[in-house]
Amino acid sequence: LGSIAVIMPAAGSGQRFGSQRNKLFATLAGKPLWFRSAERLAESPLVGRIVMPVSESDQPAFENEFSDLVARLRIEVVRGGAERYDSVRAGLAAIGDDSEVRWIAVHDAARPLVSAGDLAAVFAMASQTDAAILGAPVPGTIRREIRLSDGILRTETVDRRDLYVALTPQVFSAGLLQRAYQKHNGRPATDDAELVERIGHPVSIVRGSADNLKITYPEDLAVAEAIYARSTK
Ligand code: C5P
Repeated sequence: LGSIAVIMPAAGSGQRFGSQRNKLFATLAGKPLWFRSAERLAESPLVGRIVMPVSESDQPAFENEFSDLVARLRIEVVRGGAERYDSVRAGLAAIGDDSEVRWIAVHDAARPLVSAGDLAAVFAMASQTDAAILGAPVPGTIRREIRLSDGILRTETVDRRDLYVALTPQVFSAGLLQRAYQKHNGRPATDDAELVERIGHPVSIVRGSADNLKITYPEDLAVAEAIYARSTK
């Protein structure tokens, strides 16, 4: 119990959200998004630590304005980096070689709606396979372009029954994720699962709810409020 450490990257700039401050300071049911995300994770009895990388410019807010909320969930605030994987790396450094930590879950601070059931399912899968992520079925029809020499763009339907949208948490045995980051040469990766794959370890997927959306645009907040209200009924 308590053997999972969560790294919850929160050091983004949220440019697409378009607000002056970090989008994660926007509220969901009266509390900041980052707090709602951490709350879901803190509710799992398997989670022993929550490490949250934040940007240099946001650090004062977490130390002052938000200090009560940070303390309430015993969140360890650390300095993040320029790219998401730099922030995750900072989280890994903070966890260090804590022998109590057997698994590390990376979860976007911008995903406040992950359900307890999906968390339990991905944690269970990771304990079997050492690397598991949540994924949601692709909702729309996907077409792939076929480039032909006549300059006309033609497309073909992709079978989407075996496609997923990658979500978080992404959960790995601690040693595996540490090794993936030691080997990372800086080549951009879209997520932690890709870094783990690059060192030759397959990543299993657990079908999760698409409700676990990432807040990206301001209009996502209205949807999130509706999903949140339903989930706490
Ligand atoms: O920008 P986006 O929402 O896709 O980023 C996903 C998560 O990664 C967010 O919670 C964001 O705060 C975090 N992030 C980070 N460090 C960065 C960039 C993003 O911690 N340099």
